[in-house]
Amino acid sequence: MAEKKTGSPNSIVKGSFRTRVVANTPLCREHRRLTLEARDFPEATPGQFLQIRCSAPDDALGSGPVLIRRPFSIGGLERNGDVSRIAIMLRVVGQGTRWLAGLNEGDEVEVLGPLGRPFRIDPDRPLAWLVGGGVGLPPILWMAEFVHRADKQAIAFCGARSADLLPLRLMPKFDRSGCEPQPGVEEFDRWGIPTLISTDDGSLGAVGRIPEQFAAYLDAHPEQRAQAVVYTCGPEPMMRAVAEACDARSVTCQVSMERMMACGMGTCQSCVTRIRDDADPEGWTYRLCCTDGPVFFSHQILWDEVSPESEADGCLY
Ligand SMILES: Cc1cc2nc3c(=O)[nH]c(=O)nc-3n(C[C@H](O)[C@H](O)[C@H](O)COP(=O)(O)OP(=O)(O)OC[C@H]3O[C@@H](n4cnc5c(N)ncnc54)[C@H](O)[C@@H]3O)c2cc1C
Ligand code: FES
Repeated sequence: MAEKKTGSPNSIVKGSFRTRVVANTPLCREHRRLTLEARDFPEATPGQFLQIRCSAPDDALGSGPVLIRRPFSIGGLERNGDVSRIAIMLRVVGQGTRWLAGLNEGDEVEVLGPLGRPFRIDPDRPLAWLVGGGVGLPPILWMAEFVHRADKQAIAFCGARSADLLPLRLMPKFDRSGCEPQPGVEEFDRWGIPTLISTDDGSLGAVGRIPEQFAAYLDAHPEQRAQAVVYTCGPEPMMRAVAEACDARSVTCQVSMERMMACGMGTCQSCVTRIRDDADPEGWTYRLCCTDGPVFFSHQILWDEVSPESEADGCLY
């Protein structure tokens, strides 16, 4: 592995920012939305992420609960003059996310970003299908705004284990047992995008996993496939299933890989992954998820290399 070169220069404008918490609110049983305010934050687009220092900015390095910054997708960015509000969605899984979940309005948080290569909108394809699950939803939610502004006809497909683990706001008009894309999910409705929801236990929307629902949609609408680009983010088993459904039906798909990352800037090599490369004698090469990704085309990913630990509990989200 060592002899193969990784990474490419990351020319995206980024920086370190001291942000202030303006809101930290629960969205469902496991997810929270953290809104951070920053001055002079650079331009960013969906698929890009922040490395967040999970201890107070004035703590000496190493004195807080977590030494290494943690990566989080940017889930929205609102600008008012030189002030930006950055939305993050998080699920508590360890010390860093627990620290973030405990922040109060006015607390300060240091972030590095925006990092990574974002989703790319294809000017030649009029349809955009957004597929997300779990903590992969933030870039998908933000992408809804971008595909709307690019005049794409979009549909959102969102999966969760159960209704109480879905971090979305449902409006009264939403048919909770509906199995087709429909209006009534606030975050997508504001951009005119219908949503199909599925839950593993059938407590909301279609019964089953979202990749299966999405594959069924692809099969029911073969005439649309060449016109569409799929954007997906979620746990790797979920994205893999979405990507395989797309690749098997020749549908263009971009995936945002959430590999373990330590530096987020191409230095530590912790996020190395194997990517297909026809120019390489072995047919593949190493790439860094943090600087070459996190967004890749689905056909580039060597899915067999995905860590089985992410599938350990057999649960997609
Ligand atoms: C590009 C990118 C974007 C991300 N966006 C989000 C987001 O929007 N919201 C969100 O909640 N999380 C997101 N994550 C995952 C998030 O970075 C981890 O949950 C976080 O680093 C865990 O930190 P911790 O200190 O709480 O847990 P740790 O104590 O570091 O880990 C707790 C457990 O979580 C596992 N874990 C840690 N990091 C990851 C990871 N990257 N992938 C899979 N398992 C992991 C560990 O193996 C361990 O079992 C993203 C990750 C990446 C790489
Ligand atoms: S996270 Fe350090 S090189 Fe990618």
